[in-house]
Amino acid sequence: MNIGIIGSGQIGSCLATKFVKLGHSVSIANSRGPASLKQLAEETGAEAATVEEVVKNKELIVVAIPQKSIPDLPKNLFKNLPKNVVVIDTGNYYPDLRDGVLPELEQSGIDSLWMQEQLGISVVKVFNSIFATSLNDLGRPEGDRNRIALAVSGDDAKAKEIVFQLVDDLGFDPLDIGTIAQSWRQQPGSTIYCRDINLAELKKRVVAMGTDWSEMHELIIGKHHSDQLLMAADFPAWLKGFREPLTHLRDKYPDS
Ligand SMILES: NC(=O)c1ccc[n+]([C@@H]2O[C@H](COP(=O)([O-])OP(=O)(O)OC[C@H]3O[C@@H](n4cnc5c(N)ncnc54)[C@H](OP(=O)(O)O)[C@@H]3O)[C@@H](O)[C@H]2O)c1
Repeated sequence: MNIGIIGSGQIGSCLATKFVKLGHSVSIANSRGPASLKQLAEETGAEAATVEEVVKNKELIVVAIPQKSIPDLPKNLFKNLPKNVVVIDTGNYYPDLRDGVLPELEQSGIDSLWMQEQLGISVVKVFNSIFATSLNDLGRPEGDRNRIALAVSGDDAKAKEIVFQLVDDLGFDPLDIGTIAQSWRQQPGSTIYCRDINLAELKKRVVAMGTDWSEMHELIIGKHHSDQLLMAADFPAWLKGFREPLTHLRDKYPDS
């Protein structure tokens, strides 16, 4: 596929590397322009581009920039995008640590609903609920009992099919958890956020959260706020609070 990636940070550069290895043709952009991406382009085989170039003639586009930077994207960037182009949203809203308060987002509290309104297009939410380190290191062949499962949300069934294949090709089990209105179940503060769990466990936890956002809103947003406080104060302690062992971070945090 021809893939464009907006954002060359942890998640954007990881996906660029992986997609090129899978044989896709990838171009990538950041806020500083193609000259600043020379080294990344050499290392990954992705083409350095501007944000405008990165959305042209693509089959799939990944938006991997912080929520607070979404309003800075060129207006109407996606206006003339053909309907069959898949747009992936990897974003998470971190009001206390990074993004500041975005009042319009807080009205619904659903990150990707806001994202769709901002971009003026339908998105598929995926890769938001796994650390870039896990995405980079922990892909496994199909059938491996340690294969991590990733939640996928979106309103367009065809777009999700394409994403399921991509997730599988990267070494993870995709799980369709519903529409963008239901995508709160994979947001920070939820029980599946960055837990590196397998498909059976992911299914169990998604079902346990139910489908009623008005019931879960306070709990999930509240947990996310307290997590952010802890992350800022004591990141290893925050990691420890995750019930599952974070094996890939053991070297850094031997007690986790
Ligand atoms: N890191 C993870 O493990 C992880 C995992 C899953 C999801 N996420 C989510 O994915 C999103 C990106 O996270 P990240 O960790 O990759 O961020 P990051 O490492 O801080 O990188 C952010 C990237 O966004 C680019 N950017 C910022 N504003 C831009 C603009 N107006 N136009 C074009 N590019 C712009 C930056 O470009 P410059 O460097 O030129 O400013 C940078 O390349 C966030 O919402 C995050 O919560 C992160």
